[in-house]
Amino acid sequence: MDQSADFIIFLGRFHPLFLHLPIGFLVLGFILEFVSRKEKYRSLRPAVGFTLFLGAVSALITAILGLMLATDGGYSEDLLAIHQWLGIGLVVFAFGAWFIYTRKEKKQDPKLEKAYVGLLSLMMVFLGGAGHYGGSLTHGTTYLTQYMPDGMRALAGLPQQQRGFKPIENIEEAVVFEDIVHPILEMRCNSCHNASKKKGELQMHTVDYLKKGGESGPVFVAGQPLDSEMIKRIHLPESDDDHMPPKGKTQLTPGQVALLEWWIAEGAPFDKKVAELKTNSEIDDILLTLADPDANKTEVELLLAEGVEEADPEKVKEIKSKGVMIKPLSNNENWLQVTLNKSLPVDELLAEIAEAFPNQVTWLDIKDSPVTDEGFASVAKMTNLTRLRAEKTSITDKAMGHIKELPYLEFLNIYGTKVGDEGVLALGDLGNLRSLYVWDSRVTKQGAKQLEEKLNKLEVNLGFEVTVVDSLTVQVVPVKGE
Ligand code: HEC
Repeated sequence: MDQSADFIIFLGRFHPLFLHLPIGFLVLGFILEFVSRKEKYRSLRPAVGFTLFLGAVSALITAILGLMLATDGGYSEDLLAIHQWLGIGLVVFAFGAWFIYTRKEKKQDPKLEKAYVGLLSLMMVFLGGAGHYGGSLTHGTTYLTQYMPDGMRALAGLPQQQRGFKPIENIEEAVVFEDIVHPILEMRCNSCHNASKKKGELQMHTVDYLKKGGESGPVFVAGQPLDSEMIKRIHLPESDDDHMPPKGKTQLTPGQVALLEWWIAEGAPFDKKVAELKTNSEIDDILLTLADPDANKTEVELLLAEGVEEADPEKVKEIKSKGVMIKPLSNNENWLQVTLNKSLPVDELLAEIAEAFPNQVTWLDIKDSPVTDEGFASVAKMTNLTRLRAEKTSITDKAMGHIKELPYLEFLNIYGTKVGDEGVLALGDLGNLRSLYVWDSRVTKQGAKQLEEKLNKLEVNLGFEVTVVDSLTVQVVPVKGE
């Protein structure tokens, strides 16, 4: 099994190489299609179908390689999902376009022609989309736009600033409705309750309309949050048809709900400042987060942004000289990423690093190394660790026992190890853990599911199940904790 896991990743790594083929073929097919409509280039016509076919087949192979590569882990789950579905869509549309092309050559039918042009266009859109998100996966989402001139940003509709709340500089002086309540409505309600989209005959974008209410009357009763229609609806279960914002839309955070209720409880004033209203400690805490631009960042982002003092350069140099790869996480930063490879006495070196600069190591890569469970006692001392790759080592549940208190651990890869359910369930307090790769370890679907229930940010990746259906079909399906 270990062999097949490795082999799948080996194949997967050809994805970035192979993907140039479908791009080339499909773009060429698209160009040929339209150029060959001109009398002068008529002779190119027969090549269209063949080029599209090559494009579709190579897109299919690229997509399969991509699924394999994804098992290696370490990608942003959200971007990966979008990229993956765009890629799969591309394969479908490319085959669709080719198929209709072949029908169309046999009989002239204007309907087929329309479907064909539609599919070709969709194919190009998905090609661009998949390429774009693929690029974002490898280079980061801001790679293309980072150096975009301001004027162009505005044209492209890119935010000049972070979205959501603008930080409020002086919270006591803020006008409660204008600076706090209105932005919440603006963000979560007004897309459906405005001048052009008056759902439930309700508009909320101006003070007058908000006071007026909707088809069933006023939306708030000053002083009575729990009798106010808008608050009642917010508290209905999300599955209820009357729940606001409707199911599937971005929901209000508990803090935002508390702020709306507070405003109504205080008489729903439109011109009063924070200092003029009564608050309690809960509201005070929430108001503080509004004043703090970092309030929406994750704990790990905050930690990394905060930085760390520099590790002793002499000690870094000394440990580097023993063959350990140590690099800054990025320029001008003291955070370190450390890689120890197979041929080194890993346990010993980990102990030395844990002694010399435990706080600076935030990425640690000891995959495929002779690290033992005891070595993890040193790993546990690197308290600012956010990513740990320890796949394909012979560690067991004991190793997990050592690292169960790493507060910032966000990414953990232990595929191909001897860790089982007991080991991963020991990680139940790692509140920042988002990705855990346990393919080909002793972790079961049930164990994965149990941990996911405990840690709501966590997604466990169990890899792929490869089954040989018959001599012609090999089935590869992602395994989900169910
Ligand atoms: C995706 C669209 C959408 C969003 C976003 C949305 N609503 Fe609605 N809202 C509706 C629809 C549709 C109705 C009418 C159907 C109904 O009565 O349930 C409605 C009805 C209402 C009503 C009842 C109006 C009346 O008098 O019948 C209230 C109150 C309301 N919404 C409040 C809110 C609040 C508060 C928010 C933001 C927290 C919000 N809505 C966000 C779609 C939306």
